[in-house]
Amino acid sequence: MTSVPLVELVAADYSYADGPSVLQGVDFPVREGRRLALLGRNGGGKTTLLRLLSGGLRPGGGLVRLAGEPVAHDRAGLLRLRQTVQLVVQDPDDQLFAASVEQDVSFGPTNLGLSRDAVRERVRQALEALDIAAERERPTHLLSYGQRKRAAIAGAVAMRPKVLVLDEPTAGLDPDGQERLLQVLGRLGADGTTVVMATHDVDLTLRWAHDAAVLTPGGLRLGPAEELLADVPLLEAARLRRPWGTAVDRMLRAHGRLVGDAPGPRTARELAEWPVTR
Ligand SMILES: Nc1ncnc2c1ncn2[C@@H]1O[C@H](COP(=O)(O)OP(=O)(O)O)[C@@H](O)[C@H]1O
Ligand SMILES: [Mg+2]
Repeated sequence: MTSVPLVELVAADYSYADGPSVLQGVDFPVREGRRLALLGRNGGGKTTLLRLLSGGLRPGGGLVRLAGEPVAHDRAGLLRLRQTVQLVVQDPDDQLFAASVEQDVSFGPTNLGLSRDAVRERVRQALEALDIAAERERPTHLLSYGQRKRAAIAGAVAMRPKVLVLDEPTAGLDPDGQERLLQVLGRLGADGTTVVMATHDVDLTLRWAHDAAVLTPGGLRLGPAEELLADVPLLEAARLRRPWGTAVDRMLRAHGRLVGDAPGPRTARELAEWPVTR
């Protein structure tokens, strides 16, 4: 399968002014319909990478490609990039600014020059998709943290991007809030939006992602999530916890209850029913 990525970084380098080099020679292709999780330690460069991908930063070396075409970092090029790729930053309070949820979510579509009816319809759909329609008239600063996160995502969704890029969308959410967000992302995916998220959560990645991209000081590794998150040296290089499944497999092996290449239990139920010897 070698379809042209919707958007990609090609050999991208980035250093902040007076700072150390954050990314060197990073290739980061986003393929249509593949849920992609970007993992790495704090300060590893996840946010920087997502800002390069969505046009907020310009790579020092290398380039951004949109549907195979190099992106020029001028007004027209960035406008095209942002119409395809929408970034939702980690802290919703850095994104939300209008008096009400509805006004906030309307802002982007209004700036696209759409008719009032078209804007209203996009906003309605985005609020529905994010499960936040009941809060449409409320001031954003009175919402819960989870509601603010969803309102911020609704603002990006109302732009109808092909690629929705979320920076640590589950950070700070309680388990209920995380479940709700995963359901929302599932619906967006089913509607044809390709979602990329940065996260530290290896278990969430295994549940949600098709592919993982793992940032380490040695570079970026990209591949099927199951394969990369079973690679213990890679997890250690990225200072990531072992996923629950990997930890369970190791424990079962240590006790002789899992041998050879046999796959271990995938769910709590399978673990509960795991035979004493196998
Ligand atoms: N605006 C900035 N100016 C200077 N250095 C920055 C800035 N933003 C991030 N950095 C540095 O770049 C590195 C990567 O940061 P970041 O991309 O935010 O990583 P992550 O999102 O994985 O935590 C860190 O060392 C961080 O301190
Ligand atoms: Mg970050």
